[in-house]
Amino acid sequence: MSLFIKNIKKLVNVRQRQPESPLGGQDMLSLPCMEGAWLKTEGDRIAGFGLMKDLDAGELEAMELSADEVVDADGRMVFPSYCDSHTHLVYAGSREMEFMDKLRGLSYQEIARRGGGILNSVELLHNTSEDELLRQTLERAWEIISLGTGAVEIKSGYGLTVEDEIKMLRVARRVGEETPLKVRTTFLGAHAVPARYKGDRTGYVDEIVRDMIPAVAAEGLADYVDIFVEEGFFSVEDACRIFGEAVKYGMVPKVHANQMSFSGGVQVGVRYGAASVDHLEFTGPEEFKVLQGSGAIATLLPGATFFLDMDYPEAKEMLEYNLPLAIASNYNPGSCPSGDMKFMMALAMIKMRLTPETVLNAATVNGAFAMGVAGDYGCIATGKKASLFITKRIPSYEFVPYSFTSQLIDTIILNGKQY
Ligand code: NIG
Repeated sequence: MSLFIKNIKKLVNVRQRQPESPLGGQDMLSLPCMEGAWLKTEGDRIAGFGLMKDLDAGELEAMELSADEVVDADGRMVFPSYCDSHTHLVYAGSREMEFMDKLRGLSYQEIARRGGGILNSVELLHNTSEDELLRQTLERAWEIISLGTGAVEIKSGYGLTVEDEIKMLRVARRVGEETPLKVRTTFLGAHAVPARYKGDRTGYVDEIVRDMIPAVAAEGLADYVDIFVEEGFFSVEDACRIFGEAVKYGMVPKVHANQMSFSGGVQVGVRYGAASVDHLEFTGPEEFKVLQGSGAIATLLPGATFFLDMDYPEAKEMLEYNLPLAIASNYNPGSCPSGDMKFMMALAMIKMRLTPETVLNAATVNGAFAMGVAGDYGCIATGKKASLFITKRIPSYEFVPYSFTSQLIDTIILNGKQY
């Protein structure tokens, strides 16, 4: 199957040479675009692109004849799909009653201390079959596809037993088989201490290290390992034990770092070569210096900061330290029940004063690096997966985050196929 898309008003984030490393600091401020363009796909890949004005009539006709289908973008724009590098897409049910508790004044940690929060989702998931869990997750997967996402990272962490963590990760892998999404999976057994280990966190960490990591690895279910390093959840020492073991099985560390306090999550993540450190509400120059040159991508999750009504990370200062920033949705039932990357970009602009160019790079190129798929995803470049979307008629790319609740996507193309 090949497509020839012609009359593209603007080809956004198009690169002659794909970036070899994540974009940091100043490099995040520029968004290469091509005005008045065409793009060709061959199979599931981008075969080429160029300017309409450079095609003479014969070449245009030859392009059209050589394609299985011609799509006339007719003055609309083409963007690369979003790469959402932090989600908890696999969960059962919902937690809107806790949302009400939050509005009545309870904090995220207070709800967790009462046995709610993550443990609420753990119970719901335990009582849900794998097939039903898949059904619920597929609804969310198709929802994010319709919002422009083409690649997604999905974590476990609502199982907290060997069986239920494996159930979650199998469902996450099946999302990658049953939808056109590129899925990367993360083992997050250390998301909360389950009720059966109340008062014995070390006992639970023992179980993670002894039983869970080998079982998850035996089925090849996780690309990454993640830990919620936070007061009331897991300590830096726990992280050392879990990362130390998981890396032996080839899982690459990621961290839920510094969400509620200066927890040391950033430092321990960097020490173990984390691909990304995520959240970062409680960070400052000390953390930024540790991150400089570390290879870890600073991943901002503004949807959770918004939903929990917290102060936002100092993202502009991070750019001054030349850090690479990614933006992800953190789609989950507790702190961000939304997978809308456009809304996340709008929040990052409004609340952290980032530019449209920066947030678009953070949601595409750097998101792809944060989940190890930058060879195939993250920008428009020859040879990459044809994962992109054609917008409705919009005046500029700035219009996308500006118009933050409008549905602006006309056609979705994933792996060279239209949806
Ligand atoms: O990234 N902070 C920990 N994990 C999620 C929230 C999970 C939940 O509350 O269910 C987050 O915000």
